[in-house]
Amino acid sequence: MNREDFDILSTGIIYLDNAATTQKPRSVVSEIVDYYTKYTANAHRGDYDISLKVDEKYDGVREKVRDFINAETSKEIIFTKGSTESFNMIIFGFMANYLKKEDRVLLTKGEHASNILPWLTLSKKIGFTIDYIDLEDDYSVSIEKVKEKIYENTKVISIAHISNSIGDLRPVKEIGEICKRNNILFVLDATQSIGHLKVDVLDLNVDFLGFSAHKMLGPTGVGVLYGKLNLLEELVPIEYGGGMNISFNSDGEYELKSLPNRLEAGTRNIAGVIGLGAAIDYLESVGLDRIHEYEMNLKRYLVERLSTVPNIKIYNKSLDTGVLLFNINNYFSQDVAIYLNKFNICIRAGNHCAKMLQEAICDTNTCRISLYFYNTKEEIDILVNALMNQDKILDTVV
Ligand code: ALA
Repeated sequence: MNREDFDILSTGIIYLDNAATTQKPRSVVSEIVDYYTKYTANAHRGDYDISLKVDEKYDGVREKVRDFINAETSKEIIFTKGSTESFNMIIFGFMANYLKKEDRVLLTKGEHASNILPWLTLSKKIGFTIDYIDLEDDYSVSIEKVKEKIYENTKVISIAHISNSIGDLRPVKEIGEICKRNNILFVLDATQSIGHLKVDVLDLNVDFLGFSAHKMLGPTGVGVLYGKLNLLEELVPIEYGGGMNISFNSDGEYELKSLPNRLEAGTRNIAGVIGLGAAIDYLESVGLDRIHEYEMNLKRYLVERLSTVPNIKIYNKSLDTGVLLFNINNYFSQDVAIYLNKFNICIRAGNHCAKMLQEAICDTNTCRISLYFYNTKEEIDILVNALMNQDKILDTVV
């Protein structure tokens, strides 16, 4: 649906790599162009009209994000470069001062690199233990398996709402309740869910959350860090510079601004933030419920049609999300992706930035299809027809 809003889709491209990044509707692109062509100025620094307009737009998007994720105050919304920066800030700016050697942090092996590598790095320094929730046979996370790995000194659970690798939807509501009862901090990676499902930080009892705009129709290079106000107050900046301080002097004294500015050093990605605001407007006009329902119908069709392809192994047939992993027996996943490119079909092959998952699924690389609301059954038919001619895969690659 809404394909006419995306110029790129009229080129005939079949874009099935939406977990990597989404396409951008015209309204997002034109908001960004407007900023660069009609009122370019810095934020929070000028006393002239176009600068004041930038302030209004920039802080207006902060309020829009607050409303979109149901945070209590816009002081809890920090603009970052993306999920990766959000997670590094949470882990190195807050957890570094919160966790002790005897503590435990609970993750899964299916997390994205940005929700594992900073933890591994910090744990080498502090010495806390990282536990991993055992995955079910279909590689999903069940609440029973979460409970099995909660110990007296578990202090944090940090997982994705929807994993980017397997595409499973995690039982985050129940996990949030467990965290609340056991005084565990709940860190949620909403990167893959934010453009597909309603994410309500209060309802889910989330303490920290991160996401990137480019996975929800917005521009690259901008994202959000959400934290409960009392926790964000304790988050030590990992970047210092202009825009975040009140004063400093040659005696070495300095005073920092209050939230949210304290955590936004330097000139931010203003165009990106404005584009993020347009992306939220667009998603709200289409409706996340409609998007989810459409994607699930399309996923059902994708699973049905792909199941007819000979020699295919499908790893995730669940209808919770629009992500599906597969391999064609005897073919390397990247060869399959290169073959599909010949038909103008874009999928992702590899380990999807979740390298530990190989330990759980025992296959190093897979092909990943990730759907969005602008994909169609006709596109899936073209994909399936291409995969029916498997003997042509190597002809294309070599
Ligand atoms: N993390 C992105 C993906 O899943 C790039 O493809």
